[in-house]
Amino acid sequence: MVSERLQHLAQSSSLDTPRLRLRQFAEADFSDYAALCADGEVMRYVGDRGALSREDAWRQLAMLVGHWMLRGYGMWAVEERCSSALVGRVGFHFPEGWPEPELGWALARPYWGRGYAFEAASAALRFAFETLGWPRVVSLIAPLNRRSIRLAVRLGERFERNLVLRSHELCLYAIERGNWQAARLSPQAAVT
Ligand SMILES: CC(C)(COP(=O)(O)OP(=O)(O)OC[C@H]1O[C@@H](n2cnc3c(N)ncnc32)[C@H](O)[C@@H]1OP(=O)(O)O)[C@@H](O)C(=O)NCCC(=O)NCCS
Repeated sequence: MVSERLQHLAQSSSLDTPRLRLRQFAEADFSDYAALCADGEVMRYVGDRGALSREDAWRQLAMLVGHWMLRGYGMWAVEERCSSALVGRVGFHFPEGWPEPELGWALARPYWGRGYAFEAASAALRFAFETLGWPRVVSLIAPLNRRSIRLAVRLGERFERNLVLRSHELCLYAIERGNWQAARLSPQAAVT
């Protein structure tokens, strides 16, 4: 459980990266978020799998916003700074039944292949270690989700074990704060 002060800090947080702004979701994001959730290719390995109706996308968005209220951290809306377009969501997910707080990501397809997920997830990792003070961060990824695995590895996460969650087989990738700090100090640092 985070302290009240830290919870307030986290909830009011927005993070800027060179090309992106990670900020809280607002009702005005709903149509773009529903479009992302309606894309079966984006949702192939996400959550309970598969495209969501607008009704289910609304409920999911409400869950993401509520997660911040209950945990003090959660998923940010990722906005492209040059256009203000909603790119996707990146951040933390720790619902009841999860093994550990997870760093997760999902971007709308037009924004794949630009390094945006890496840029946003790097900022989120830094927030986890430096602001929230977490000792480690995990990502839970379907074994066939190659893009996501590439991203996790590029962030410095390492495969630890397989697990089954809500009937889905997943791979748990993890990074410890010490390894993250060491990678940042190395001249060949992969983590920005
Ligand atoms: C997983 C996901 C976020 C990865 O997105 P991504 O854009 O491939 O990830 P990155 O930000 O690491 O970008 C890497 C790609 O951008 C390219 N790139 C272009 N400009 C770049 C830059 N300035 N910096 C870094 N990479 C750049 C890289 O070469 C690489 O291209 P490649 O895919 O052809 O190898 C995205 O595929 C997605 O949203 N998938 C659906 C949702 C999902 O499965 N979520 C995970 C559930 S566990």
